[in-house]
Order: sequence, then C-alpha cells, then structure tokens
Amino acid sequence: MSPIAVDLAQNRSVKNVDLGSAVFEIEDCDLSRLLDRPRHINIERNRSFDERSFSEMSISLSPPLHFYRVFDHLERVYSPGIQSGSNTPRSNNFDSHPIVLDAWEALRRSLVYFRGQPVGTIAALDHSEEELNYDQVFVRDFVPSALAFLMNGEPEIVKNFILKTLRLQSWEKKIDQFKLGEGVMPASFKVLHDPVRNFETIIADFGESAIGRVAPVDSGFWWIILLRAYTKSTGDISLAEMPECQRGMRLILSLCLSEGFDTFPTLLCTDGCCMVDRRMGVYGYPVEIQALFFMALRCALLLLKNDDEGKEFADRIVKRLHALSYHMRSYFWLDIKQLNDIYRYKTEEYSHTAVNKFNVMPDSLPEWVFDFMPSRGGYFIGNVSPARMDFRWFCLGNCVAILSSLATPEQASAIMDLIESRWQELIGDMPLKICYPAMESHEWRIVTGCDPKNTSWSYHNGGSWPVLLWLLTAACIKTGRPQIARRAIELTESRLSKDHWPEYYDGKLGRYIGKQARKFQTWSIAGYLVAKMMLEDPSHVDCVVACTARSDAGYRPGVTSVRGHVGLALPAATVFLPALGEFGGLSLLRQHDNPQQPAQVPLKSTFYLLMFPSLSDGILSKDSGN
Ligand code: GLC
Repeated sequence: MSPIAVDLAQNRSVKNVDLGSAVFEIEDCDLSRLLDRPRHINIERNRSFDERSFSEMSISLSPPLHFYRVFDHLERVYSPGIQSGSNTPRSNNFDSHPIVLDAWEALRRSLVYFRGQPVGTIAALDHSEEELNYDQVFVRDFVPSALAFLMNGEPEIVKNFILKTLRLQSWEKKIDQFKLGEGVMPASFKVLHDPVRNFETIIADFGESAIGRVAPVDSGFWWIILLRAYTKSTGDISLAEMPECQRGMRLILSLCLSEGFDTFPTLLCTDGCCMVDRRMGVYGYPVEIQALFFMALRCALLLLKNDDEGKEFADRIVKRLHALSYHMRSYFWLDIKQLNDIYRYKTEEYSHTAVNKFNVMPDSLPEWVFDFMPSRGGYFIGNVSPARMDFRWFCLGNCVAILSSLATPEQASAIMDLIESRWQELIGDMPLKICYPAMESHEWRIVTGCDPKNTSWSYHNGGSWPVLLWLLTAACIKTGRPQIARRAIELTESRLSKDHWPEYYDGKLGRYIGKQARKFQTWSIAGYLVAKMMLEDPSHVDCVVACTARSDAGYRPGVTSVRGHVGLALPAATVFLPALGEFGGLSLLRQHDNPQQPAQVPLKSTFYLLMFPSLSDGILSKDSGN
C-alpha cells in the first residue's frame, strides 16, 4: 500500500442542549461506592463536585448519547485542552510511588506526532532490538495510553488518534489481489518523515505486512470502546456524533454483524487476529474477541445516533447481544459443576434434546484442568466450537467479560475467586499470565507450528504481560475487590521500572524478563499508570465499564419493567446522595463503603442495586435466556 498523506479533521463544535423530553435514568456503575475507601476529589482534574456527580449518572434521552447535552456547560469544562505536552501527571493526589513519575516520562517519550499534533504512542522505544513493527502505533497498544491521558485530563491526543485511525479506515485495503472489508481498522500505523520535502505521511498495516498476514479483528472493537471512553470521560459528544464517526462505527458493525453460514452468535476468526497475534490455536471463536465484540456492541449502542441508520443498527445489536450473552454464559462458562458435567458427557447425541450440543469428547479434557479448577470459582474458557473446547484461561477475555457485563455478577465474582485461589499460577511473581497453562512439547509443535518465540511459558504461550494489570484492576474495582489489584500492583512495582518496562516476562512464575521482550514497551508503562490511577480514583473505571439500562435491555429480557422502576423511581437518590456524600454533609456513602460497619450492609445492597442496574438485572434475570 502506498503511503497516503492524511489530514486531521478537527471538530470542536459544542452542540446545543436539547432538554426536550429528558427522562432520568441510572446509567453507569458508580464504582467508587463499592470500594473500601473513600474517594477524594481530584482538583487537578478540574472536576468539581457538580460536574462529577452529573457525569457519573446518565440522563437517558433517545438516543442515550444526548445525555451529555443536558450539561452543556460541562462540555466546555471537559472540552479537550491542549495539554499533551505537559511533563508531569496532573493529579497531585496521586499516591506517588517513585516509579510513577518515571512512567509518565517514559510514556511521554513514546508520543508520536503527525504534522505537529500527537496522534498516538509508539509500541516500544527500545533501540537495542530489531524494530520490526514495534516502531508503529498499534491500535490495541494505544488503548492503555489513551486511558492514561484521559484520566490525566489530556484528551486531545485521544481525539486525534480516533480521527486519524478513522481516516485510515477509509483507505482501500488490499492484500495481493484481494480487497478487505471497508470497515477494517488498521492493526498499526507509522508516521514517515520525508526530510527532502519536509513532509509527513502515514503508512498503515491492515494485515498486509503483519507476520502471518492476519487482519486485526480487535482493532475496530477497541476503536469503538475508546470512542465511548473518550465521550464518557470528557463529556464531549461532538466527536462521536460527527457523521464520519457514526459511519466508521457502522462500517465496523456491518463487518461483524453480517449474516452468513453461522450457527452461533459468536464471531468466527482466524488465528492471530487479536492481542495473541500469531498462531497459538486461538482460531475459531476466541474468548478475547467475543468479549471485545460484546463490549463494542454495548458501547456502540450508546454512541449510535437515533437516526434511521443508527436505529437499524441498534436493533441488530440488541438481538446479537441477547444471543451472544446467552451463548457465552451457557457454553463458554466453566466451573466445577460444569467440568463435572462435561466429564460425564455422552457423545453422539442427535436432535434438540442433546445435552452435549457440540459433541465434545470427555477424553479431550486436559488433565491440568481438574487440578486447576478450584471448588469456588470459574472462568470463560478460551474457545468453543464443534467437538473442540479450549480449556485454557485467557486473561483479557475474562477481564473484558467482567467490564462489559458479559459475565453475570455471579460469574464475575467467580472469576475473581479463581484468580485469588490460583494466585501463583496466574499472577505469580509478575502479573499477569496472558493465558494458562502453556502448551508444551508435541502440542506446542502442532499448535504453534514450532514457533520459537512462543515456547512454553514465554510470550503468548503462558508468558506474563504487565499491560494486563489495568484490565485486572478495572475488573477488581468493578467486582468490589480492589485488594486483589493492590497486591498485583505492588508486585509489579518491585521490578517493572528497574527492568526497564519489559513487554513480557517468562517462566511459570514470570520471574524472567521475556527472552525476546522489548524494553520500554509503552503499554507496560501505560497499563501500570492506568491501574494506579484507577485504584487511586475508582470513578475512572466508569469510562471502561459498559453497563447502562438501555444497553442491558438488549440482552436481558423480562427485566425491563424492574429496570424501569429503578430508573424512574430513584433518580433523585442517584443524583443527590453522592453529591451530599461528596461534600461531607452526609457520610452515608462513605459509611456504606466501610467494611468495618456491618450495620450498613443492607444499605450497601440497596445501593449496589441502584448503582448497578445491570447487576441487579443479572440477579433478577438469571436463567432468563431462551
Ligand atoms: C506483539 C503483541 C501484540 C502487540 C504488538 C505490539 O505482537 O502480541 O498484541 O500489539 O506486539 O506491541
């Protein structure tokens, strides 16, 4: 593909407020209330009490995106300021571990500029190794960087990135003679500088240069998730409402919602189409992609405009969410009971009455899984397709399943229980295993094709990836178990900076710097910062949690009326109690967060249901799938 110069479109317009038929509904989860510590007001983030309490609930108009219009003045407060050039974290309340400053400096060094504007961060700034494509801006790698900048009140770079990649999406993409789908987002891009003409151009990789020539299925999903995070964090809806952004979203959705020969609502993928971007036996229906697909659908539902095209997509999304959540929760879920059921499966069953629907052979159950499975706990397995279950545990898919509410509340806590009881295996000395366990000898040969980078307990094959810390932390906060994240972060802090921020660690416990790991890997740096900031101010997690009354309606039938009551009857409480709590006039919420005060438990439960409509739905709608 020839390099094409692309201009950055800027849109800073602030739309007028339409207070029309505003209906208040509880929207996103106010995570800080689930934690065992009071939240401070981060003055540096320029968010006053009013702004914060309003930003943490939603007024669901139709479309829900219009929520942000109600507080037009907030948009200006939140409007992207040009701050990406600043040198320090803006939060002065940061529990400053010495390596935090180090991390910010390293993150800022990784910034990539296009015609004077920051548009992303380079994958790794390590000149000691061959660069390959590590000198590019990867879409998936940029996500933690973007979150770090958003949380630090520097949204401009995120906006630039969203617009830049949107332009790239509209390129004609070809591999040899074959044209790729219009909506495909690049895996990565690079800014080229022509010193003679003093001119900058961009080249992008949609898979045509990638090792293995695989298109990144996850890029489009991350793009939508990031657009939602930007909108949620800044309150600036003008970006998402731009016709170009709406179109970009619809193109991505068209690709993944298209009808074909599928008998499952999950998305069929080739190997290497996600974070695990080479042959690792994740082809088929990898849990990472299914969880991101689910999350992106829910985010899109919030971002799509209520025009004819938007409505048509919203309908398709709602149907797909419904089927996808049912399928994943039923067939990908493994706990001790489910494992025992599979162990006793009969095979060759025909017709609708089959229990073993995918004809899984009990003999294909790997031995390790019987020891790995705790009596309390469970997880979404790696893959399910005819006669094939990949029982490996994958970190990203399970964490995103929690954040997106693909996991029911019970499943979300069970995933956390499993992480706690399998701490050595999954966290070890350096968080966090990309997958567990590693494939060895013959299996490694067959499945990876003898990949020397993916030997046992290295890289994608059971390596430990610090970047995953931000996902674990977000999941811990959402499930109300921040202490798990705190422990993991402490482990990271003892080594990561000293080791120069490696991409991954090797070994069963992750004790060794990965054999081909890049140093100063940007997402290791950003992942740490995001984890730290989330723990410091749990309200940050709101922008990566997709749970709204409206989007829940899509896949939890039979609970709309309950949700409606929650949404309509209690908005005042949602608005005013946090507000009062924040001012110290009413310490109700603080108290309920304090685990030392059992008397507050009923109140806590009430708030849990209030603030987590999706969770209450989960409880209420258990087994309500078809
Ligand atoms: C490796 C990772 C991939 C990442 C890329 C750039 O290929 O597997 O997920 O995007 O490096 O860091």
